Amino acid sequence: MKTIIEPFRIKSVEPIRMTTQEQRETVLREAGFNLFLVRATDVIIDLLTDSGTGAMSSEQWAGIMRGDESYAGADSFYRFQERIRELTGFEHILPTHQGRASERILFELVGGPGKVIPNNTHFDTTRANVEHSGAAAVDLPIAEAADPACLHPFKGNMDVAALERLIADVGRERIPLVMVTVTNNSGGGQPVSLENLRAVRAVCDRHGLPLFLDACRFAENAFLIKRREPGQAGRSVREIVLEMFGLADGATISAKKDGLANIGGLLLLRDETLLHRASNLLILTEGFITYGGLAGRDLEAMAQGFKEVVHEDYLAYRIRSVEYVGERLAAAGIPIMQPPGGHAIYIDAAALCPHIPREQFPGQAVVCGLYRIGGVRTVEIGSVMFGRSPARLELVRLAMPRRVYTQSHMDYVVEVCCELGSSRRELRGLRMVNEPPVLRHFTARFEEV
Ligand code: F0G
Repeated sequence: MKTIIEPFRIKSVEPIRMTTQEQRETVLREAGFNLFLVRATDVIIDLLTDSGTGAMSSEQWAGIMRGDESYAGADSFYRFQERIRELTGFEHILPTHQGRASERILFELVGGPGKVIPNNTHFDTTRANVEHSGAAAVDLPIAEAADPACLHPFKGNMDVAALERLIADVGRERIPLVMVTVTNNSGGGQPVSLENLRAVRAVCDRHGLPLFLDACRFAENAFLIKRREPGQAGRSVREIVLEMFGLADGATISAKKDGLANIGGLLLLRDETLLHRASNLLILTEGFITYGGLAGRDLEAMAQGFKEVVHEDYLAYRIRSVEYVGERLAAAGIPIMQPPGGHAIYIDAAALCPHIPREQFPGQAVVCGLYRIGGVRTVEIGSVMFGRSPARLELVRLAMPRRVYTQSHMDYVVEVCCELGSSRRELRGLRMVNEPPVLRHFTARFEEV
């Protein structure tokens, strides 16, 4: 088989500023060993997130010029709405400025004290919005998700028996909806199978509960279903996407991932009453229902992005490029979350640095090490991000921006990881010296132990 190449040519480039290890040492200290506090020009390869960091296509840029900036009823909105209806089968589509705005509106309406929201694994903003409403966020991943080396093809799946137990324990009236995150970002970018989605749907039906998707990475999830789930290889990704959304009563989506846009979000709903209440909140804090806190041109970029993301040549390249990095790291003996998922490679920092105790944040130590050695910016998904709630894993995420980096950039990243691997004994743990009350990973500061 031939190399799966980037299925695009590069029309516009953005220079990368090269730095020395000495310069990066200074930057690291000034930023309190928190890479969120580092300026992007001080980064060589930025794998902090795949969110809003993708490269737009020439057709998306053409859409930017076509944007209709009318306050109400803009043409751009109708093009966007048509595209999302076609893709998801949902009739009611509210645009928002990004995923967490959809979450905030949804949980303000259905959350509140005493309520419980089950999810395979809540993403941090989802959990924060659930908890901000006064509700409790409960994660119900399958047991295999806790073992980074386990090769289960759908480690994003929800534990259906645990969902049944939760409903029996707290009572269905306290559960306003069940949520499934595709792919499961906090659990390692792992996909959820159609079989699991159907099983969760069946439980919801038995108890009269709505099922919502956190569908930020729906296309990557659908492609992994096509690749890994028995009986799905012959279907198109578009068909699988339609089935996934068809199983849900609603969805929150950040268009900054599989929308291939730099900004934007969506709230999809079936229930008319909920739609009216959500529309009122949208107008109150985001904007009118035909723009939801975005410019008309952003709606155009989203409309085109949601079309391009289900192209199977794009998805084959996307998934392969992540897998390529995973294979090379694993071959070099760097422990990673297996198998590689949709948008990122996750290094198992606890296994890589057994000499750093959990209280000294092994993940954050690896993040700092990768930056120091090669100017590669990654993010900790472990005890720093999840605070005192017992994070099951200490992961470092290498999130791949869409259509941005080439194979040689990735070879460089692999070399940096390998250098860190061979000098890991020198890595030191960290102590948190400044702890913000919520979403502390964004602004906390550290010192080396
Ligand atoms: N849900 C999931 C699964 C996410 O990964 C994100 C964002 C959101 C919701 C919120 O969307 O950022 O548009 O408000 N994830 C980014 C990340 C930030 O780096 O993984 P948003």
